[in-house]
Amino acid sequence: MWLYLATPVGLYYLLHWYRERQVVSNLQDKHVFITGCDSGFGNLLARQLDRRGMRVLAACLTEKGAAELRNKTSDRLKTVILDVTKTESVVAATQWVKECIGNRGLWGLVNNAGISIPSGLNEWMNKEDFAKILDVNLLGMIDVTLNMMPLVRKARGRVVNVSSVLGRLSLFGGGYCISKYGVEAFSDSLRRELSYFGVKVAIIEPSFFQTAISRSDRHLSHSRILWDRSSSEAKEIYDEKFLLSYLTGLKLLDKMCNTDLSLVTNCMEHALTSRHPRTRYSVGWDAKLFYIPVSYLPTFLADRILFWTSTKPEKAL
Ligand SMILES: NC(=O)c1ccc[n+]([C@@H]2O[C@H](COP(=O)([O-])OP(=O)(O)OC[C@H]3O[C@@H](n4cnc5c(N)ncnc54)[C@H](OP(=O)(O)O)[C@@H]3O)[C@@H](O)[C@H]2O)c1
Repeated sequence: MWLYLATPVGLYYLLHWYRERQVVSNLQDKHVFITGCDSGFGNLLARQLDRRGMRVLAACLTEKGAAELRNKTSDRLKTVILDVTKTESVVAATQWVKECIGNRGLWGLVNNAGISIPSGLNEWMNKEDFAKILDVNLLGMIDVTLNMMPLVRKARGRVVNVSSVLGRLSLFGGGYCISKYGVEAFSDSLRRELSYFGVKVAIIEPSFFQTAISRSDRHLSHSRILWDRSSSEAKEIYDEKFLLSYLTGLKLLDKMCNTDLSLVTNCMEHALTSRHPRTRYSVGWDAKLFYIPVSYLPTFLADRILFWTSTKPEKAL
């Protein structure tokens, strides 16, 4: 009886494993453009793909970041300065990519650049705070994609968009989670549209990893600035005592963060090099065992679970 059950399950996993290991050919001729390569996932992915022999076109926000990356990589890797919030910068980077690739087309576009500050309680923010994050994480990604799309279509290549588990479960206020929900929606429509042309779109959904974006000291000081600046009504509800326990919770962020960034970049690499990339890569055991399962729960149940773990304003209870 158990054998009858185990055989098809075993066969399924064997086939799945075999399928996942199929790699596209001529990797050394393929160009991949990555945004946000100064640090974190983008920086590591650029070095990883360079070691693998691919032709990496790395976009950095600063000249310093670009020079440091060039020092650590082969002559194959080229850098360009790109601010994804500025259309003229995106257009210039697209022109540069065209010159680098000739008439081959762009195999991979990795939309990785992102920011996470300001984040906090919605009531501490103003419209500009939301706009600042959306401008980089969502509108910047859309602008880069629209400009690069003809080049990716020509190569029947790949688009890899970096979202987050916070694009599946909105854990805090401000623009960050909204931007990542937007990334999910944009990627879904893009995947369907581009499937006619053989272009594959993958979404990366990491949980919490130790990079510049998740550093608790930066979030602590910005949360205090947001609180100081908030209205007297907001300060009355979210008083000093609330702020202190909120900041104590934030200090845990560093401990929660996974230090192995290669878990994320290996998924990005798979999305770019596998013949059968996945649609979504959730990265981190906490993503797989907690955040993604909770996102599928009925809303009232997910809300209860998140209520237990959140910092609560005493005055409202
Ligand atoms: N770390 C995590 O826990 C985590 C989890 C889920 C998703 N993510 C996502 O992963 C992506 C990469 O983040 P990371 O964790 O690797 O953090 P990171 O080290 O801060 O990398 C973000 C990169 O984006 C660049 N950047 C910022 N604003 C930009 C702009 N306007 N134009 C172009 N580039 C810009 C940054 O440049 P500078 O270094 O010069 O500022 C940096 O190189 C982001 O989309 C983030 O939302 C991160």
